[in-house]
Amino acid sequence: MEDFCQEILLTEEQIKKRIAEVAVDINRDYKGKKPLVIGVLTGAVVYCSDLIRVLDFPLELAFLKASSYGSDSVSSGKVVINSIGCDVKDKDVLIAEDIIDTGYTLKSLTEILYKEGAKSVKCAALLDKPERREVDVAADYCCFSIPDAFVIGYGLDYDGEYRSLPYVGILNPAYIKK
Ligand code: PRP
Repeated sequence: MEDFCQEILLTEEQIKKRIAEVAVDINRDYKGKKPLVIGVLTGAVVYCSDLIRVLDFPLELAFLKASSYGSDSVSSGKVVINSIGCDVKDKDVLIAEDIIDTGYTLKSLTEILYKEGAKSVKCAALLDKPERREVDVAADYCCFSIPDAFVIGYGLDYDGEYRSLPYVGILNPAYIKK
């Protein structure tokens, strides 16, 4: 294990196995539909790419960037969503998120998508940190509920680094920049 990683929380194999399990539920629920899957940049790119390849229904794919302003660990609760860039009217939207933390991003995004005319909005999240929640939202499909630790890898970054790790690990606190 690399020094920057204090502990491997989820191995590549565990992630792959769990995504396949959750996909069984998603495939059941979207059978006969053609949803629009929206990956939330940047962190969800890896998860979204793996998720869509185990979904067995036709789908559309889009990505958007959501930015929450605040310090590294404290969310301001103010979320800015860049233009959705595609028509969501009357569509079943499935948001693919790498992590739900305070919940502000998912709450804001869900509200915007409904305002834009989406028929339904659900969320498939790789990770959930329930201890950190500040607003009452939940993923419809969740792969892993994790403790409140600084996690990196499989799309998640610290200061722009570590997104390409194939596993989810806990950042070694010695690597936190002062
Ligand atoms: C992460 C994640 C979610 C959001 C969740 O993105 O991808 O979009 O934070 O946090 P919340 O529940 O507190 O709103 P981040 O802002 O870190 O951007 P990134 O994916 O580009 O790293």
